[in-house]
Amino acid sequence: METSIVGTGYVGLVTGVGLASIGHKVICVDIDAKKVEKINKGESPIYEKRLEELLKKALQKKLFIATTDLNYAVLNSQITFIAVPTPSKKNNDIDLSYMKKVSAQIGSALLNKKEYHIIVVKSTVAPETTLKVVLPLIEKYSKKKTGSGFGLCMNPEFLREGNAVDDFMRPDRIVIGEIDKQSGDNLAKVYKNFETDIIRTSLSNAEMIKYTNNALLATLISFSNEIANISEKIPGANAFEIFKGVYLDKRLNPVINGKRVNPQILSYLYPGCGFGGSCFPKDVKALVAFSNKKKYKPVLLSAVLDINKKQPLRLVKLTEQKIGNLKNKNIAVLGLAFKPETDDVRESPAIAIIKELVAKKANVFTYDPVVNAKNTHLHFKNFPFDHAQSLHQAVKNKDACLIVTNWKEFEKLTPEFIKSNMANHLFIDGRGFFHNKESEKINYLGIGLGNKKGASKES
Ligand code: UDX
Ligand code: UDX
Repeated sequence: METSIVGTGYVGLVTGVGLASIGHKVICVDIDAKKVEKINKGESPIYEKRLEELLKKALQKKLFIATTDLNYAVLNSQITFIAVPTPSKKNNDIDLSYMKKVSAQIGSALLNKKEYHIIVVKSTVAPETTLKVVLPLIEKYSKKKTGSGFGLCMNPEFLREGNAVDDFMRPDRIVIGEIDKQSGDNLAKVYKNFETDIIRTSLSNAEMIKYTNNALLATLISFSNEIANISEKIPGANAFEIFKGVYLDKRLNPVINGKRVNPQILSYLYPGCGFGGSCFPKDVKALVAFSNKKKYKPVLLSAVLDINKKQPLRLVKLTEQKIGNLKNKNIAVLGLAFKPETDDVRESPAIAIIKELVAKKANVFTYDPVVNAKNTHLHFKNFPFDHAQSLHQAVKNKDACLIVTNWKEFEKLTPEFIKSNMANHLFIDGRGFFHNKESEKINYLGIGLGNKKGASKES
């Protein structure tokens, strides 16, 4: 099926390359001409494993092309996915400006098209957006009516950065919100090769499934962080051990044929310095704003955000607890990306941590295996810090090393290595990094660990 995708970022590019790699003909549209040029040369503008390899194959098979020409894309495809950003406004409400602009552009392109065309909202949008914002704009600019002139669906993505290609190829489910059966039937054809559950539902249910999914995962994280923060008040407590015990509850981790469904600790119940990324913060804030607009006060989701906002600063507090005033102390911040296996620093806990360290007049040294200095300064603006070129350079002769993102590369920092190379170094563990390691050999403090002396000083 000829498909086009407007917005070629993490969501749009992975979806486009994924559809091309299963045989669809794909045109990806973006306003960023440089990005389009890079993609057509087979270079992926984002760091996602396997993406560049699949992009090159799709280009060679002439199943994929990128362009800035939205009109051309709509006229040369039967279905158009919209994957443009839906960021947060200052008041945390969702910013639909790109969505509105592109809906109008697609409508205008349909004005001169006789064949039936399907529009699919893939971007994460607040409930009722597809019906009350996208639909009227397409009808207005195309002078057509939905049903006869075009079809309309809402098809949320559940891609995790760092796993995006795998999550696209092996989805847990495919959610098809449809304005009518014909629209849903056509979209279902795109996914006919996928062996997974396909849910056919209303547009608003599809929009809410996405928000609810992210809000639930974010709630689990803030819940685990709250338990960790309480555990720090209990001498010798260890939040990771606590969750290991909780996670044997068969209602969380069923036993099937005598085996646990997931022997690992329940992911999303893993305490740390908080959740970041371009989705959880933005989507939970948008859902809170939407609820408030609907005159319902979402107290739990607001608390999820409050806990998450403060969580990164607990790393700084733990550092002060150990070495006192941070003025002129040399502090390494290890990990800038909001999670491993991505170069994305959007809403990374590292941003709040660096800002706080700079405010306390510490000398900050950052390191990340993938996020380079250019990208760093882009997101960390004028924070004065040095970006180290290697892990060794970052940790050498520092008063404290904060682990903010648990990159695989940091596994080099084994307790033995630390003991023999930097015995007096202090590590502040924000990601359970030293959990399950022989950490009694090293000098460290971590989120969720009740310190020997009992309650941590801060309130
Ligand atoms: C973003 C949001 O994170 C996600 O929640 C939403 O569902 C889709 O948009 P992402 O792919 O991460 O997903 O966005 P980003 O990486 O910022 O890329 C968006 C792309 O859209 C950029 O390349 C930008 O140039 C392009 N764009 C933006 C357009 O092509 N047209 C526009 O009008 C605006
Ligand atoms: C998330 C959702 O998982 C995905 O389905 C949706 O489409 C987009 O948002 P992503 O933001 O890429 O994906 O990353 P994810 O792996 O879910 O982690 C989000 C944040 O939560 C990261 O900052 C991570 O460090 C943090 N996290 C995750 C925890 O702090 N504890 C955990 O147990 C799991």
